[in-house]
Amino acid sequence: MAERFEFEVMAQDGAARRGVIRTPRGEIRTPAFMPVGTAATVKAMMPESVRETGADILLGNTYHLMLRPGAERIDRLGGLHKFMNWERPILTDSGGFQVMSLSGLRKLTEEGVTFKSHVDGSKHHLTPERSMEIQRLLGSDIVMCFDECPSLPADRKRIAESMALSMRWAARSREAFGDRPGHALFGIMQGGLERDLREESAEALTKIGFDGYAIGGLAVGEGQAAMFDCLDYAPGFLPQDKPRYLMGVGKPDDIVGAVKRGVDMMDCVLPSRSGRTGQVFTRRGVVNIKNARHADDPRPLDEGCSCPACRNYSRAYLHHVFRSQEIISSMLLTWHNLHYFQEIMDGMRGAIAEGRFDDWEAEFHGLRALGDI
Ligand code: GUN
Ligand code: ZN
Repeated sequence: MAERFEFEVMAQDGAARRGVIRTPRGEIRTPAFMPVGTAATVKAMMPESVRETGADILLGNTYHLMLRPGAERIDRLGGLHKFMNWERPILTDSGGFQVMSLSGLRKLTEEGVTFKSHVDGSKHHLTPERSMEIQRLLGSDIVMCFDECPSLPADRKRIAESMALSMRWAARSREAFGDRPGHALFGIMQGGLERDLREESAEALTKIGFDGYAIGGLAVGEGQAAMFDCLDYAPGFLPQDKPRYLMGVGKPDDIVGAVKRGVDMMDCVLPSRSGRTGQVFTRRGVVNIKNARHADDPRPLDEGCSCPACRNYSRAYLHHVFRSQEIISSMLLTWHNLHYFQEIMDGMRGAIAEGRFDDWEAEFHGLRALGDI
């Protein structure tokens, strides 16, 4: 196991990269999809099951864990890995983005952000320094800079000011993080859909110097075409020899399009959240298990899938347990969705390594065009 955090690009096909991130807690094969374990659990899944789907790394959230059960408590209990029984790498988001989308009353200043908890209304303060401290107490392997961004559409002035503030916070995050061998700090590029602001942001971050670089402020209401336009240039502004992480993305076709444009890591609640609302992702598109057409269907969700939901249960059963609000419904559908997302990543990694990404992508889109069975 690596003593230090390292990234190696092993193959490239067009802009798409196949690589590996080495950490003291294990390797992360890239392109990587990170399931979201916001509150120290990937909802409805045992950690060993998450691993069986093929995940090398999970995402946790500073915002949720600081409010409940508290970072100091998790530290006293031996850190987040031990607390949630996941010994492999964990990336934690820094909290600013979640404050803006989830908390109640909030006040943004140069210093940081003051907000009211969405849990109990209590008042809290987050700064770059406190976010770095919380992520250290959690024992996070990949720490994210404290940042902020508007939802889109937003006017250029707001985007420019927000980006500049996030770059000042990035410098403070770097300073507060210090030197922690084996742990990584990632900068977060902002700048909305403004090409020059993205470039300026990338230059500011590269000058500070990080172990990896995230592309933030996307998938916030701009739509896929606008996001892909931005991804046509944004990854190219970042260092070639460091991992690039697209935050909060996305649907299967978003993920494939992002990897094609040079993204190495992604996270999204979609496969796990959809598992709880009956939305299933298959090779042939989206299936809603609630639909009455599944009630008598003895076939599996996806006959080509090797997950437990597809190997052992019919659509009729999955429909029944979903309609009956049985807990096993969330368990099985989440398992399937996470398995499918990891299968996409594995397929892309193999295709990039063999220089056949375009063929793989054509097959991916071809199957979806057929529609559900
Ligand atoms: N998750 C999705 N987008 C973002 C972003 O821009 N910043 C942070 N910190 N987290 C995100
Ligand atoms: Zn399945």
